[in-house]
Amino acid sequence: MRTDFDPAALGGRSFYRLLTSVVVPRPIAWVSTVSAGGVDNLAPHSFFTVASVNPPVVSFTSVGEKDSLRNIRETGEFVISLAPENLFEAVNATGTGFTPGVSEFDAAGIAREPSATVRPPRVAGSPAVLECRLHEIHPVGDCFVVYGEVTLAAVQTDMLDSDSHPRIDKLRPLSRLGLNEWGTIGEVREITRIPAEEWPGHYRGGQVR
Ligand SMILES: Cc1cc2nc3c(=O)[nH]c(=O)nc-3n(C[C@H](O)[C@H](O)[C@H](O)COP(=O)(O)O)c2cc1C
Repeated sequence: MRTDFDPAALGGRSFYRLLTSVVVPRPIAWVSTVSAGGVDNLAPHSFFTVASVNPPVVSFTSVGEKDSLRNIRETGEFVISLAPENLFEAVNATGTGFTPGVSEFDAAGIAREPSATVRPPRVAGSPAVLECRLHEIHPVGDCFVVYGEVTLAAVQTDMLDSDSHPRIDKLRPLSRLGLNEWGTIGEVREITRIPAEEWPGHYRGGQVR
């Protein structure tokens, strides 16, 4: 048995609460931008994913018009810093709706480091950052999907394994769940993809044979 939720019957805000409780866990893009006037801005966005492999494009969604979106429109640049577990309270603090003249870096006491290819700073304490140049802003409903081409990825060297692969147990990313719930990395399981030619007789009804 299931309970159905009709978006039209439930209404916008309530359905949003349901939607963000079932589209889980969501990675958090900690988006830094600079306004045309030179104020650094930092805000978490959990409607975040990879949009294209080649060229490498990531996207995040601004629910309505916000400082991050305005700054990207003005300057065409942004940086996504991975939001790590040890900065839990700091990430949350940057979700506060400050006025445009306030830098969340300063308000929340978050250390910056310079980026290499764009003007917005990186979060110094973040283990992995993606520097991005605006590709496109696409309006969808009451939101704006921001696509950015990645101009540089920079990962803390001590978080890489011997093959230069980022180690999930070192990155320790936060994720966003429903309501005020957040996630941390739990058990990590590994499995290889089944090649099509090995499929017959390999897997059925949840059982590998
Ligand atoms: C973990 C987390 C995830 C969030 N995800 C989003 C999101 O995906 N889109 C959005 O518009 N706002 C999101 N918010 C709210 C924004 O961070 C908040 O509105 C912030 O004040 C926007 O800052 P800005 O006006 O400086 O851009 C999120 C907040 C938190 C704490």
